[in-house]
Amino acid sequence: MPQFRESRFFSVLAVFCMISFIGLVTASSAPDDTVGKQMRKVKKAMKTLHKIAADPAQKSAAMEAASSLQSAALAAKGLLPRNAKRMEDPKAKAEFIAGFRKAQIAFIKTSLDLELAIMDGDKDKVATLLQALEGMEQRGHKTFKKRRQ
Ligand code: HEM
Repeated sequence: MPQFRESRFFSVLAVFCMISFIGLVTASSAPDDTVGKQMRKVKKAMKTLHKIAADPAQKSAAMEAASSLQSAALAAKGLLPRNAKRMEDPKAKAEFIAGFRKAQIAFIKTSLDLELAIMDGDKDKVATLLQALEGMEQRGHKTFKKRRQ
């Protein structure tokens, strides 16, 4: 009888350990909930767009890359950059978050125009808009990514 109790104890312990392990694994492969993760998707899409956005033979792949850039930027828009998480002054924090959100909105709008230019096969516009997106990246990083505090 004590032997039965002991093996039951170990079975319960094993189940408990498995549940904890699954919990840990799911927590570490957490959802795409950081600006950094979304930015890496933006970077990947930009790389593709630079290669194929002006190539009429690759129009649908370029449209798809533009869409994934938009989705990633849309997700980033609703998240908090690391700098904002560190800010303590509520007024400065609110201004910082609003500025970040507006910059992401402008970025998304331009990326939608880029998709239109790709669809229209307008190579000059594609080039201008890709450049505009890069300018936004530079300004965005200077204002929101550069470590503060
Ligand atoms: C062509 C456009 C862009 C590219 C390719 C790009 C790429 C990147 C990359 C590779 C990172 C580092 C991610 C990491 O590993 O942690 C990053 C971080 C960041 N980017 Fe961008 N980015 C772009 C546009 C923007 C724009 C428009 C903004 C602001 C509106 C922005 C704000 C940030 C911020 C705040 C971080 C730091 C992450 C954090 O604070 O949580 N980026 N970006």
